[in-house]
Amino acid sequence: MSDKKTSPAVDARVRKVVIPVAGLGTRVLPATKSIPKELLTVVDRPLIDYVVEEARQAGISDIILVTGRGKGAIEEYFDHAFELEATLRDKGKTALLDDLVANIPAAGAVSYTRQQAPLGLGHAVWCARTLVGDEPFAVALPDEISAGGPGFLSELVASFNEVGGNLVAVEEVPREQTSKYGVISPKSRDGDLIAMDGMVEKPAPEDAPSNFRIIGRYVLQPDIFEILATQPRGAGGEIQLTDAMQTLNARQPFHARICSTPIHDCGSKLGWLMANVDMALKREEFSEGLTGYLKARLPV
Ligand code: UTP
Repeated sequence: MSDKKTSPAVDARVRKVVIPVAGLGTRVLPATKSIPKELLTVVDRPLIDYVVEEARQAGISDIILVTGRGKGAIEEYFDHAFELEATLRDKGKTALLDDLVANIPAAGAVSYTRQQAPLGLGHAVWCARTLVGDEPFAVALPDEISAGGPGFLSELVASFNEVGGNLVAVEEVPREQTSKYGVISPKSRDGDLIAMDGMVEKPAPEDAPSNFRIIGRYVLQPDIFEILATQPRGAGGEIQLTDAMQTLNARQPFHARICSTPIHDCGSKLGWLMANVDMALKREEFSEGLTGYLKARLPV
């Protein structure tokens, strides 16, 4: 549906997802002083686990984590814990053990590269260039998680299989909130796909070209890497992925996919608290107890 330039191959599959986890997580301090933000739990699973599961459901086989200083515990999370497993086995806690082991990705399915300094999201993605190689790939930011539904990556990959090129996931927000987000500038719309003119970082509501805000899920062509290689620092002195996507948008087809998956933004304390309540209410073992507690706790 885009009339822009030649589209890169539509037949290439999305096999890889880059998950940057090297940021400092300053909005969630002091917790993130010694715990990676990506290991904060929502109910009983760390954020990173939700995103890896989302990728698996989208048929993505290769997980690429861009880690940094103090993030070693993330690697441990995806590995066997031999002492723990042996203890559970000895104590006959077989169900628990089976769950733990089943959750470990296949050997070699997760690769790690390192961003030596948190120079920005664009720089983190660029650090994955060798592991991605010359093929389209997904990017997923683990502080935003799918709250049920099909999952953002499944929706994006389905759209990519239709139109190819580059895609960002978007959701509609009230217009007064546009100044908190990256917002797309639409050209034309066909159902849940929008051909994009560009994107704007945190526009004032009166200047916003739309009220579709960008969610932390993307499918990008590998051409983004050569753009990122010379991308000057942007907002906040960081190498911004949005700036590089703007450049790519001028060269290749770029669509926004309006996702039906509900979202939890766990990068802020309030969003993380709400995610815990919502995800716990969805679990049979907690819903009754938590509902009772909330009813008693809230003013009538
Ligand atoms: P955020 O901007 O939300 O993460 O980046 P942050 O910088 O860690 O958090 P605040 O704003 O200080 O609270 C989204 C994702 O990108 C990663 C983060 O780890 C997070 O998973 N990221 C960000 C990097 O890997 N490197 C960076 O330089 C910046």
